[in-house]
Amino acid sequence: MRSLRFDGRVAVVTGGGTGIGAEHARLLASRGAAVVVNDLDGNAAEAVVASIIAAGGTATAVASDIALEAGAAAPVDTARREFGRIDIVVNNAGILRSSPFGDLDVEQWDRMIAVNLRGTFLVTHAAWPLLAAQGYGRVVSTTSNSGLLGVKGSSAYASAKAGVWGLTRSLSLEGAELGIHVNAIGPMAYTAMSAASKIAPKSWQTGEGDDWSRRLDVARVSPVVAWLAHEDCTLNGQVLSAVGGRVARFAMRVTDGFDDENLTPEVIRDHEADLLDPDDVGTEFRAAFEEGQAVHRRLLD
Ligand SMILES: NC(=O)c1ccc[n+]([C@@H]2O[C@H](COP(=O)([O-])OP(=O)(O)OC[C@H]3O[C@@H](n4cnc5c(N)ncnc54)[C@H](O)[C@@H]3O)[C@@H](O)[C@H]2O)c1
Repeated sequence: MRSLRFDGRVAVVTGGGTGIGAEHARLLASRGAAVVVNDLDGNAAEAVVASIIAAGGTATAVASDIALEAGAAAPVDTARREFGRIDIVVNNAGILRSSPFGDLDVEQWDRMIAVNLRGTFLVTHAAWPLLAAQGYGRVVSTTSNSGLLGVKGSSAYASAKAGVWGLTRSLSLEGAELGIHVNAIGPMAYTAMSAASKIAPKSWQTGEGDDWSRRLDVARVSPVVAWLAHEDCTLNGQVLSAVGGRVARFAMRVTDGFDDENLTPEVIRDHEADLLDPDDVGTEFRAAFEEGQAVHRRLLD
């Protein structure tokens, strides 16, 4: 079977100096992409670039903070200047700081949103006109099950990552008309971030010698990004869970629920079990207006 290649394609990988992002960069480069490896830590980005070049690939490093407008534009500008184009944006850079909500200060909230959500927006926004003009692009962002399912003690991080979900879904609708596919992953892997995380399981914070941690190798995440970044991939607006070689899809569904023209708080109280009915799997809508149309049909047709 023909293997999937990226010859002639140019990718930007943010936060590519370590962890999951470094693996994304190496994998894309090993399959022919020219890769701009961005990281706040310039030395880490340079080391990844050196390893790519040593393996026969093409890459260049850009040290910048993607939470800042100029820092987000820098890797996109470099892609265009050094490699002549940009086809793939991998929004991977992220930070995680945890504290119970009562101890969370505004500065910490702002930084979580700035890097994880604003940075994803800024880099994508910088690349968007170039992708739109060529009528082709692949954007793969990074959310987290913390944001999609909820987590104790990391509400700022979770909020930012949930924002990445909304951005991904909405841009996928706009991108569809422009030849741009926008998807995301919700990874779990053993990295510096997970090792330092107060919310990761204990076994996962120690890493070495632990079977679960070994299974959570970054190499079992990056193939998901590579597929979503490939021209053959028709997925758009999807968020794939990538953990230890298990790939699945996050899905947002609206249950069928109930309706009552004379709604009162008591009616809702008396239907609470219906709202929680596990057999009511409901519908997965492609876009917000589809839910509106479905409710319209149900109530008026
Ligand atoms: N490791 C996990 O289990 C896990 C789980 C869910 C989501 N994620 C997400 O996956 C992504 C990668 O995580 P990781 O575990 O490899 O983390 P990591 O901390 O090992 O690596 C993140 C990299 O991003 C860089 N970075 C941070 N802020 C930056 C900024 N402002 N500008 C540019 N670069 C910046 C860091 O320097 C670092 O090299 C993150 O978005 C993270 O939130 C990770």
